[in-house]
Amino acid sequence: MHSRLQELRKEAETLLKLKVTLQDQLNRLKLSCVFVVCHVFVLVLCLSEAQDFDWTNTKQHGSFYYGTFPTGFSWGAGSSAYQTEGAWDKDGKGLSIWDVFSHKNGKIQQNQTGDSSCEGYYKVKDDVALMKELKLNHYRFSVSWPRLIPTGVKSDHVNDRGIQYYDELLDTLLENDITPIVTLYHWDLPQVLQEKYGGWQNISIINHFNDFANLCFEKFGNRVKYWITFNNPWSVAVEGYETGEHAPGLKLKGTGAYRAAHHIIKITAKCLVHTYDAQWRQKQKGVVGISLSGDWGEPVDITNQKDVEAAERFVQFYLGWFATPLFHGDYPQVMKDFIGRRSVQEGLGSSRLPTFSPQEKSYIKGTCDFLGVGHFTTRYVTHKNHPPPAPGYRGDSSYFLDRDLAELVDPRWPDPGSEWLYAVPWGFRRLLNFVKSQYGNPMVFVTENGVSEKMRCTELCDEWRIQYLKDYINEMLKAIKDGVNVKGYTAWSLLDKFEWDEGFTERFGLFYVDFRNKDKARYPKASVHFYKRIISSNGFPNQREEQRNTAANILRLIHDPLTSHMEMVTEIVVPTVCTLSILISAVFLMFLLRRRS
Ligand code: NOJ
Repeated sequence: MHSRLQELRKEAETLLKLKVTLQDQLNRLKLSCVFVVCHVFVLVLCLSEAQDFDWTNTKQHGSFYYGTFPTGFSWGAGSSAYQTEGAWDKDGKGLSIWDVFSHKNGKIQQNQTGDSSCEGYYKVKDDVALMKELKLNHYRFSVSWPRLIPTGVKSDHVNDRGIQYYDELLDTLLENDITPIVTLYHWDLPQVLQEKYGGWQNISIINHFNDFANLCFEKFGNRVKYWITFNNPWSVAVEGYETGEHAPGLKLKGTGAYRAAHHIIKITAKCLVHTYDAQWRQKQKGVVGISLSGDWGEPVDITNQKDVEAAERFVQFYLGWFATPLFHGDYPQVMKDFIGRRSVQEGLGSSRLPTFSPQEKSYIKGTCDFLGVGHFTTRYVTHKNHPPPAPGYRGDSSYFLDRDLAELVDPRWPDPGSEWLYAVPWGFRRLLNFVKSQYGNPMVFVTENGVSEKMRCTELCDEWRIQYLKDYINEMLKAIKDGVNVKGYTAWSLLDKFEWDEGFTERFGLFYVDFRNKDKARYPKASVHFYKRIISSNGFPNQREEQRNTAANILRLIHDPLTSHMEMVTEIVVPTVCTLSILISAVFLMFLLRRRS
C-alpha cells in the first residue's frame, strides 16, 4: 500500500514537472509568436511603404521617366546664414542690412525677424546629424559677412569667433563625408557698408568684398572645393533696389536694380574669380561659380512670334541678365535694345542699362567654372506693349516695364505654398536646356529647388512636396538625358527657416522647425523619407534595376560590417532566431507528447 502510494506520488510529481515544462514551452511559444507577428507586421509595413514609393504606380505613367542619375551625381540640401543661424548679435557679429530691415515696423510679415530663427549657430552637430540621416552628399550654406568682419571692412576687425563657428561647421561636415558648397553672399551685407557707400549701388565696396572673399579662401579654402560668389543676384538687385521688398528696401525704379547688378557682375568676375585664379586655385584646387535664379517663361501662344519673343525676353531679363555677361562678356542683346529704346523715349541721353568697357567685357567673359541654377516655378508670357512715357517724364520707368510683356499663370497649376510658386515641373527641363544651348553646356549645379507650405501644415504630412520633388527631379533627369551637364541637386531647404519678407509664414524645409519652442526642435516631414529614398536609389530605377540594387544591397550588407549592424539585427538575426525557436519548440513538444503516450 505504502509503495503504491509512493509510486502515485512520484507519478504526480512527474506530471507536475511535465506541466511546468509544458507551461514553460507554451510561454516560449507565445513569445516566439509575438516575435513572428511583430516581424510580419514590420514586413507588411515595409512593403506598404515600398508601395508608396513604387514609381510604376505613378498616375502620370506616360510622362514619367524611369532611370538613375549618372554615377557620382551629388545630392544635397541648402540653407543660408541669415535665414537659419540666429545669434544675430552674439559673439561679436556685426549688423547686416537684414538685421536692420527686419527690425523696422511693417517690413516683414507679422514683424518677425531672423534674430534667433533656427538657432543653427548653436546646433551644428544636430543639424549635420540630420544631413547624415538623409544621406546627403553635399550641404550648401552661406557665410555671414558681418559675422566674420563686423563692419564689412577687414582692416577694422576680423571676428575670430565667427571663424571658429564656420571651422566647426566645415569640420563636422567633412567628418561625416558631406561636401560643403559655400556661398559667400546670400544677401546679408554689413549694414555699415550700406550706410557708408549705399551698398551695391557703389562700386567702391568692391575692395571690401574682395577682402572678405580672400579671408574665406584663406581660412576655409583648404576644406572648401566649391565656392559660390553670389546667391540669386536678381533678388538682390530687383527686390533690394527696385521694389524695396527686401533689404535695404530702396525703390530706385528703373535704375537701382541695373546698377546693383552691374557691380555684382563686375565684382564676381574681377575680384573673385581672378583673385582665386591668382592666389588660391593652384593650391586649393577648387571651383568658383555663381548661383542664379530663373523662372521659366513659356509663350502663351507658341504660334505667335511676338509671344515667343516675349517669353525669351522674360528669361533673358531674368537669368540671362547675369549669365550672358559671365559666359559671353556682355548683356543680352534684347536687354540692351529694350532698355535703350525706352530710355530714349524717356528723353534720357543714354540707356539706363550700364555698359561694360571692351576691357571689362574680356575680363568678365568666361569667369564661371560652373553655373548654379536656382529654380522654383514657371510663367506663361505674352507680349504687352507698355505705352512710351511722355518725353521728359520718368515717373513710371521700371525694370518690369522695360520688358514689354505680361506674365500669366494657369489656374490649374498647383500652388501649395508661396503666392508666386506654382508647381510646373516641365518648365525646369526647358530652363536647363536653355542653359545648355545658350552658354555652351556649362557644368551645372542645381543650387535651389523646392516648395513651401503655408503655416497650416503642422502634421509633417507634406505630400504636395513629395509630388513636387518627384516631378521636378524627374524633369531634371530628362534634362540630363537631353545632354544637360547637371552634376548635383540641392533641395531647398534643409530646415524651415526665415523666409525673408514672409518671415516664418512660409515653410520650405524638409525638416519642420518648431519656432514657438525655445529649443527650435526639428522634426522630419514625410518628404525626408521620400528624398532619402531618391538619394539611396540615385533616382527612379525601374523595377528590374531596383531588384538588381536590392541584390547588391544584400551583398553590401553581408560584406560591409560597418554598414548596418542594426539592419543585420532587425532583418536577419531577429527573424532567424524567431523561426528557429518555433521549430525547436514544435519538435520538443512532439517529442514530449510522444513520450507521454
Ligand atoms: C531664393 C532665395 O535664394 C532663398 O533664400 C529663398 O528661401 C528661396 N528663393 C525661396 O523663396
